[in-house]
Amino acid sequence: MEHISAGKNVFVYPMPVALLGSVVNGKPNFMALGWFSRVNANPPLIGCGVGKHHHTTFGIRESQTFSINVPDASMIREVDYCGLVSGRDVDKSALFSVFYGETGTAPMIRECPLCLECRLVGSMENPTNEFFVGEIVASWTREQFMTEGKPDIKKINPLLLTMPDNRYWTVGEEVGAAWSAGRDLAREK
Ligand SMILES: Cc1cc2nc3c(=O)[nH]c(=O)nc-3n(C[C@H](O)[C@H](O)[C@H](O)COP(=O)(O)O)c2cc1C
Repeated sequence: MEHISAGKNVFVYPMPVALLGSVVNGKPNFMALGWFSRVNANPPLIGCGVGKHHHTTFGIRESQTFSINVPDASMIREVDYCGLVSGRDVDKSALFSVFYGETGTAPMIRECPLCLECRLVGSMENPTNEFFVGEIVASWTREQFMTEGKPDIKKINPLLLTMPDNRYWTVGEEVGAAWSAGRDLAREK
C-alpha cells in the first residue's frame, strides 16, 4: 500500500503532558504543556513552545525561570483545566500545593510525581509560539516513584497526548532495551 499525505498539521506520537509553572506578577501559575523536549545532553537543557500571548510567557520572561511538572494520570481534570483557562482570569495555583526549590522563583507542584526546575538560558521567537530553553538546575521526586535510583515511568504513570485528535493516554508495555535492541543488527552490518 502506498503512503498517502497526512497533511501538515501533524505531530509526533505520543507527547507527554506537563504543567508548565512560572510566577507571573508575583503569583504562581500553571498551564498544560504538550510541546516540550530535552534539547541538549550536557548541560541538561529542555525546550518548550509556549503561545506568545499566554500568561505563562510573561512569567517566564519576567522571572527567567520555569518548572516542568509531570502529573500522573489521575490529575487529568486539573491538567485539562490548566489548558483551558488562563491565569489572567483565574488563580490556577489554588488547585495545587506549591513549593520552591533552588531557584526560589520556579513554582512546583507537590502532587506531581516529578518536577524539573529550570533557569532560562535562551529563547527563539516563532510566529505564534516562543521557544524557551531552560537549563534543568534540579529535579524533585519521591522515593515511591523510583526504581534503582531512577524515575520509573510505570510508577509515575504520566499522561500522554495525541494531536490533532486531542486525546489523553497512559503508557503501554515496555518492548525492549534502548541502545541494546539493535546490537545484533549493528554487528551484522
Ligand atoms: C493538553 C494540552 C496541551 C497544551 N499544550 C500547549 C503547549 O505545548 N504550548 C502552548 O502554548 N499551549 C498549550 N496548551 C494551551 C495552554 O495550556 C492554554 O492556552 C492555557 O490556558 C495557557 O494558560 P496561561 O494563559 O495561564 O499561561 C495546551 C492545552 C492542553 C489542554
